Amino acid sequence: MAKWKFPEGFVWGVATSAQQIEGAAQEDGRGLSIWDRFADGEGNITDGSRPDVACDHYHRWPEDIGLMRKLGLDSYRFSIAWPRIFPTGTGAVNAAGLDHYDRLVDGLLEAGIEPFPTLFHWDLPQALQDKGGWADRDTTSAFAEYAACVVRRLGDRVRRWATHNEPWCVATLGHEEGAHAPGLKEPRTALAVAHHLLLSHGLAVRAMRGEAHDAEYGIVQNHCPVVPASDSPEDFDAARWFDGFFNRWFLDPLFTGRYPEDAVADRIRAGHLDGPRLPFVHEGDMGIISTPLDFLGMNYYSRIVMRAGEDGKPVAVAMAPVDQLTDMGWEVYPDGLTGALLDIHRRYAPPAIYIAENGAAYDDAPGPDGRIVDQRRISYLHGHLLAARNALEAGVPLRGYFLWSLLDNFEWGFGFTKKFGLFAVDPVTRDRTPRASAAWYHAVIRENAVDDDLSLPAEGDSRVFQP
Ligand code: FCB
Repeated sequence: MAKWKFPEGFVWGVATSAQQIEGAAQEDGRGLSIWDRFADGEGNITDGSRPDVACDHYHRWPEDIGLMRKLGLDSYRFSIAWPRIFPTGTGAVNAAGLDHYDRLVDGLLEAGIEPFPTLFHWDLPQALQDKGGWADRDTTSAFAEYAACVVRRLGDRVRRWATHNEPWCVATLGHEEGAHAPGLKEPRTALAVAHHLLLSHGLAVRAMRGEAHDAEYGIVQNHCPVVPASDSPEDFDAARWFDGFFNRWFLDPLFTGRYPEDAVADRIRAGHLDGPRLPFVHEGDMGIISTPLDFLGMNYYSRIVMRAGEDGKPVAVAMAPVDQLTDMGWEVYPDGLTGALLDIHRRYAPPAIYIAENGAAYDDAPGPDGRIVDQRRISYLHGHLLAARNALEAGVPLRGYFLWSLLDNFEWGFGFTKKFGLFAVDPVTRDRTPRASAAWYHAVIRENAVDDDLSLPAEGDSRVFQP
């Protein structure tokens, strides 16, 4: 069977986030986050669950590092919970919070795994939300201070840092659509939030470089290729509109220091801005936002197909047959990953790119022997690794791949109903059970290669995870 070797030094990882796996919501002085509060709201989380215990990773992290070691990972992308470090967002540092990540980083390094932290994966301290949250410009300097504080403690051992995860989700899902914390439906606020997230990123990169100059700094952006539903000019325009706010509204400022003019015009037409002057942009902001980066993290799950709604605004249409959808309802479309990487490389030329998340939700039942053979997840991963190979062959400076996710976890508004893990997590005992995809990924990492053809893991690879 033909194998395609990834470049020497290609980084293999998995990704998680604090709010989704840690639990221990009330322990060691952790403050309340906006997701703890959001979960109180009737109907906000589909299964009515709360992230209070999640995967109990806060206590079980040594066991989880053991799983990572068995996978053979080079790197682990996790996030740091701001409310553990500054329970009310600013002010006095909570030493116990810093100690936790100190131990985690040492544990990873002892296991030969590089720690790759993200500073903000959506768990804003509720105390800051009470003062306006990301709509308040002061949150940007609070974030930079928090980031610098963490780097001061861990910067002697951590070489790569990401500031934000998916600012589009925070701005749009959190402040325009109300589906994520803090649950607002205010498009004008969402634009200010997007700007403050970007500004805080630039401020944080500068502050962190002041603490650890030689480390690498970047941001993680979700990228979604947008396809028009037909070749009508209206559908083309709807696709352009969606791309404008989902992708370019964030990448243009980061790499060119400007908001995309066509997308600004869309927002004026929609009544979300009064004119081309953006009221939340102060002099000097765009220079801070476009502070040069060492890498871009890109999350890719699927593409989206758009048609024009009655008012011309984009409306998503389902084109794919049901058997090509994951449990999130997202189309399996690996070519979109190649396209997104090429597009970013050609348009913005970041010095290095990581696929910072990629994975699929499927809930396959265990077979009679107790094994979970998640063939669809393996097929999804295989297709996307071939897509990554195609991008590498086309010259994209792709340096690594982080699979979402190590464990089934708290999938935001979907609670625990969507299973993304290489390891299933028992909802009561929290015991971790490897799926076949864990053994499959282990073999990919060991070989640093992907087979042309899809196959299930060999028996020997599955044995790696037997107790
Ligand atoms: C991404 C998020 C991550 C997880 C995956 C499925 O948008 O960054 O936390 O929810 O989707």
